[in-house]
Amino acid sequence: MIRPSVLFVCLGNICRSPLAEGAFRAASAELGLDADIDSAGTGDWHLGRPPDPRAQAVALKNGIDISGLRARLVTPQDFIRFEQIVALDLSNLSDLQAMRPATAVGSLSLLLDHLEGREGEPVVDPYYGTDAAFDTAWAEISAATRALAASIVQSCNG
Ligand code: 4NP
Repeated sequence: MIRPSVLFVCLGNICRSPLAEGAFRAASAELGLDADIDSAGTGDWHLGRPPDPRAQAVALKNGIDISGLRARLVTPQDFIRFEQIVALDLSNLSDLQAMRPATAVGSLSLLLDHLEGREGEPVVDPYYGTDAAFDTAWAEISAATRALAASIVQSCNG
């Protein structure tokens, strides 16, 4: 079986996609799913930086340490390495569609497409928001990444 591979992409790679990477890693570990997991951004303002302290705090509050992650840009090679590239909002999705090379193998989706009843919706950027915005982003991201991990496990077993 091919090892599943999932890349989460937002704008800065310091708030939403590191939360998605951390939550999906935890969900995969719980489900015994061995996958290649990473996150990246479409913007280059924070390259090499750890996640925003508010993102680190909300993850830690929920038992997940994302302090070791570092921001990087999404690259054309990512479209070859990852079978699933998952955008956090519609602007990230359209940026990814625009840079998707003809040789790309994987699929592009929106994170909340994987959460029943929330298809087509964005995870709103909490960067300019309050701590409550980070709690909301976390709730959506953890529910959707759990659902995504479960559906990958199901398709591996099916
Ligand atoms: P993220 O949030 O895309 O969830 O990492 C942002 C982080 C930084 C900026 C925008 C969004 N920024 O403009 O610097």
